[in-house]
Amino acid sequence: MKTINFLIFAFTRVQHIFYLFIAKLIGKEYQFITPAATYAPWVLDKDFLATYTKVKKNSLLNFYQAWELWTLAANAASKEGNILEVGVWRGSSSIMMGTKLQQLKSTKTIFACDTFEGVVKAGTSEDNYYKGGEHSDTSLQFVKDHVEQTFGLRNVQLLQGIFPDATGHLIENEKFCLCHIDVDAYISAKDILTWLWPRMVIGGVIVFNDYGFPLTKGITLLVNEYLQREDAVRIHNLNGHGIIVKIK
Ligand SMILES: C[S@@+](CC[C@H](N)C(=O)[O-])C[C@H]1O[C@@H](n2cnc3c(N)ncnc32)[C@H](O)[C@@H]1O
Repeated sequence: MKTINFLIFAFTRVQHIFYLFIAKLIGKEYQFITPAATYAPWVLDKDFLATYTKVKKNSLLNFYQAWELWTLAANAASKEGNILEVGVWRGSSSIMMGTKLQQLKSTKTIFACDTFEGVVKAGTSEDNYYKGGEHSDTSLQFVKDHVEQTFGLRNVQLLQGIFPDATGHLIENEKFCLCHIDVDAYISAKDILTWLWPRMVIGGVIVFNDYGFPLTKGITLLVNEYLQREDAVRIHNLNGHGIIVKIK
């Protein structure tokens, strides 16, 4: 057992050194983060573990990000407004939130928006890696089947097209208490945030999946622009999420 534990430890260290090497090539403000905290409530949540295990082969979420979406969905269940996700890819993040809401018998809808043809509005001076068209290896039909048949969810409504340009008008009268933005590019995320802000309820939470990663510096920049605002609190979660809470 000790040998196995040592081998796992050694493997993860080598993996971390590799990621750190890549990150250092990209910018000085990156380092490998190992929080010393040990509180880990997910180990007792069998539904969470089962859902994440089932979804992860079609997911770009890390384990801790999946846990955060799971718990934020639970928190959203008692608030005013629905849930928005932009950047669905193969559906994993919508499935984590949708499964938790369905388990709680919540009547909320997740509006899950994607081009299903890849990243858009990328390649500006703010984006250091994405050029456009990445993550096109999915389809509306694949996600629909995955969400509705594999996971049995009835609370995810898929909207295909660039958001908000092509599909925002379909939900323009909605209010939102939770939003997950996972779109990789600065202008894409900024346009979504501009559309969303007046529709967020006070206390509403916006999660940016790409905040803490070296290939999506435009998203880090965008979220950091909210540091000085009086109507928002910005949180840097060490799982890589940047979070903005609307406070007035
Ligand atoms: C990194 S993937 C999302 C990963 C997914 N959330 C997960 O957890 O596995 C990014 C997605 O954002 C989509 N996308 C980027 N900008 C968009 C926009 N403005 N409107 C709709 N979809 C967008 C791309 O098509 C792509 O599928």
